[in-house]
Amino acid sequence: MKKIDPIIWSITDGHDSSINQFNYLTGESKHAELDKLIDEKHAFFTRYSKDAQRTMDSILNNLVDVCGWNIPSHLVYKRTHGVDNTTLEPSDAARGVITYLSRIGKTGSFDNVNSKILPHHMCHALSAYHCSPYNNCVVLTWDGIGDGRYYSESVFRDGELVDYTSPRWFVGLGSIMRWVGHVCKYHISPHVDKLETSASLDYAGKVMGLSSYFEPGLPRDKHFREQVNQYKKLMDALPDYQAWLKGEFLQKETLDANPVRAWDKPWTQDLDHDRKIVWSSEDEIMHCAAVQQAGSETFSERLKSGKLAAKIKSADNNIIIAGGTALNVVTNAYVREKNEFNVFVPPDPADGGLSFGLSVWKAKQLGWKGYDHNNRPSRRISGIPFNTKGLGLDIPNSRTVTSKEIADLLKEGKIIGLIQGNIENGPRALGNRSILCNPEFPDMRDKINSNIKNREWYRPFAPVCRLEDAPKWFSAKTFDNLEHMSFVVDVKEQYKDTFPSITHVDGTARLQTVTAHSNPLLYSILNHHENVLLNTSFNVQGKPILNDWPTAKKILDETDLDHIVFLNRHELQLFS
Ligand SMILES: [Fe+2]
Repeated sequence: MKKIDPIIWSITDGHDSSINQFNYLTGESKHAELDKLIDEKHAFFTRYSKDAQRTMDSILNNLVDVCGWNIPSHLVYKRTHGVDNTTLEPSDAARGVITYLSRIGKTGSFDNVNSKILPHHMCHALSAYHCSPYNNCVVLTWDGIGDGRYYSESVFRDGELVDYTSPRWFVGLGSIMRWVGHVCKYHISPHVDKLETSASLDYAGKVMGLSSYFEPGLPRDKHFREQVNQYKKLMDALPDYQAWLKGEFLQKETLDANPVRAWDKPWTQDLDHDRKIVWSSEDEIMHCAAVQQAGSETFSERLKSGKLAAKIKSADNNIIIAGGTALNVVTNAYVREKNEFNVFVPPDPADGGLSFGLSVWKAKQLGWKGYDHNNRPSRRISGIPFNTKGLGLDIPNSRTVTSKEIADLLKEGKIIGLIQGNIENGPRALGNRSILCNPEFPDMRDKINSNIKNREWYRPFAPVCRLEDAPKWFSAKTFDNLEHMSFVVDVKEQYKDTFPSITHVDGTARLQTVTAHSNPLLYSILNHHENVLLNTSFNVQGKPILNDWPTAKKILDETDLDHIVFLNRHELQLFS
């Protein structure tokens, strides 16, 4: 029988399911997002319920035998979606874990945490706070659905959650952006023939990308402001998720002029429903821009409201944005620009990070004191290690390189897939599973979009640079907290033409900064490159960030990717 350690395993169901391992004596955390384990975006444990045991056995064997996870002394599990998730029955996935553990001789403490005990948004807040740089702060969580609420405010003081509220009247921008994305689906995602739930989860991000193409002032856009106000009303008018599902909001008189009225069912009821609204491409771009603007304004205005403003002031003016909507880098930047707050966004603010929040909740009950916030571990790199099975066996002519040689190849215009350490938590590659190239080459964006990642034409790529270099090329109110690629900044006017591949059509860029401490290898490459690099996730359209050699090799063989660099302990191997 394996040794039992002071270990919690937490498992969350729903889209972006995940498992977290947490040592409640040391605070060490390991994290596994299901989508990266099984190479399926936004994967649900519940989707495998017919074969839950085999799926769980395979996943857990991999975590224990290959990734070095410990056998837990405590198991905590939670269904994370829907208003009716107050059941005390374990989910099929949780049963799978229990069966696995009993087979290896572990029986004991199992907690089923339903939403009455720990709401979805409190779980988001706990997860976000415990990887933030703040001791005192207000965590604002905001997402598409949650467990019937879209939004919450959590005040943390000296490591403790001291106040939690989740008002019913505030509506998720994510849901409304997904709805706009659904109407625009033929434009925003031509690669997806049929809308599926998992694909639609990305629609809010695509609406955000397309919104930048709106050019104010053209005659056809005279209704833009009116439309922004309509979307703002919509955000205030939806009473709650149940009403949204029943379509009750369609009856609201406030929505008379809103195109939602032309839609006879909300998208959540019938995702394959033919769209009833036909917008021209220009209309679609205007609607994307209007809903984006409405979301940014609504959120920012909430923060100025009396009670919440007082809470933020009492929390040293520190806020954290979490929940799926925290992936909206435009809104995050707007909030930071329009207010005098310090703003932090965790690397995995969406549901993939919930199981970490669940672990923290349990660890506190078991006497864990919390992190020293000046010395907290990075959640960015607590993901699973790369699956090295077969690595390089099919490429006999690999060679060892230095970070300077990598920088030289990038200067020449080569496109390189970089793999090092554990996979990032969250949807963004931050230098551990990244495709890197030189953004000074004008065709790089189209080349990667069309020939490597097969993405939509309008989607921008992000730049990465050393933290100390950021003010040279970019302008922003602050360059704090940019390590997770969570805010847009402006590219300085004189560099917009220098870096065409990372400058979005509206002159912004989703900048990531690195330091020698946060990512030594990437920092070293940037030291030699002496410039900005384009950084995008190492994957192809519709797939999560890759984590195995065959997938990486396939991209090398079949696309315009020139090389793969793999950090093998302290040695850099180059595959071509
Ligand atoms: Fe959520």
